[in-house]
Amino acid sequence: MLDETPKIVKKQSIGLLLQPGTYFFCRCGLSQDQPFCDGAHQGTDFRPKKFTLNEPTQANLCLCKHTQTSPYCDGTHRKI
Ligand code: FES
Repeated sequence: MLDETPKIVKKQSIGLLLQPGTYFFCRCGLSQDQPFCDGAHQGTDFRPKKFTLNEPTQANLCLCKHTQTSPYCDGTHRKI
């Protein structure tokens, strides 16, 4: 079933210290491994957002899945 509205995991962000590497951020909200993709988007129109960090980074990642600056929180969770 196709569904274009992501599931809101939580109306807040999650702060993580991420090591250098490539990550796949969940955009559908269905992953059990938030905030990262676990493949649960299969059968939807969603695809994970791939992003790469070159140095250790304190990141504020979106959990409401409505951010316009994916994978980072832009404060949209306060408006939905
Ligand atoms: S599980 Fe949500 S984008 Fe893959």
